[in-house]
Amino acid sequence: ETFFELNQSMKGQKVLVTAGPTYEAIDPVRFIGNHSTGKMGFALVDNLLKRGAEVILITGPTKCKLHHKNLTRIEIKTANEMLEAAEKYFPECNGGIFSAAVSDYRPKNIATQKIKKSSNEMNIEMVKNPDVLKTIGGIKKKHQFLVGFALETNNALEYGAEKLKKKNLDLIVINSLEDEGAGFGHDTNKISLLDFNNKTTTFELSSKKVVAKNILDYLMKLTK
Ligand code: CTP
Ligand code: CA
Repeated sequence: ETFFELNQSMKGQKVLVTAGPTYEAIDPVRFIGNHSTGKMGFALVDNLLKRGAEVILITGPTKCKLHHKNLTRIEIKTANEMLEAAEKYFPECNGGIFSAAVSDYRPKNIATQKIKKSSNEMNIEMVKNPDVLKTIGGIKKKHQFLVGFALETNNALEYGAEKLKKKNLDLIVINSLEDEGAGFGHDTNKISLLDFNNKTTTFELSSKKVVAKNILDYLMKLTK
C-alpha cells in the first residue's frame, strides 16, 4: 500500500464525515435498516486522519472501530438524528464527505409496545426522511467542499450527475452495484468520480482503503 506517500497536507483542516446505515424504529424491538457496514466511511476517516485532518464522524450503527486523538465520533440511529448532528457541526468544518446509507423513509408512527401478529398482511405507513446531504448542500459556504455518494444499480453516471447538481456537490462518488465485488459488505469497491466540472474518472476494483485514498487524492487536487 502507498500510505507512506501521503503528505500531511490536510493539517489544520476539519472534515465532517457521515457513515454507516440509519435505523428507523417500527416498535421497541424492530427497525428498518440496510446492509451498509460503514467500512467505506471508516476507510475515508482513517485516510483523512493519516493526512493530518481533524475528523467529526457521524455514524449509524456499525461494528467498525477507530480511535485517534483527532477523531470525534458521534453515534446516531435515525436520519433525523444524523441531520441534527450534521447541521450542528458542518459550519465549523472545511468540508464534508457524506458516505452514509440514509434511509429514505421512516415509519410514520413508532408503536410504543411491540406490535403483535394478527392478520395475514400488515402495512407500515412510511414518511420521507430529510435529505441530510441536500440540506447541508443548501447551507454550504463557498470555501467549504462537499462530497456525496450515489449508490445505483442502473444508469449510474446519469443519476450521479443529477445528484451532484441537486445537492450542490463538488464531487460525487458513484458506486455501481452492477460491478462484481463492489458495495455492501465487501472489502473492495469499484467507483467512478464525477466532479463539478463534469469530468468523470473510473477506477479499477480496489480495496476500500485504496478507494478512500483515490477519492481524497482527487478531492485535494480538485479543491487546491
Ligand atoms: N443522503 C442523505 N440523506 C438522505 C438520503 C441520502 O444524506 N436522506 C446522501 C447519502 O449519504 C449519499 C447521497 O445522499 O451521499 C446519495 O444517496 P442515494 O441514496 O444514492 O440518493 P438519494 O438522493 O437518496 O436518491 P435515491 O435513493 O432515490 O436514488
Ligand atoms: Ca436513497
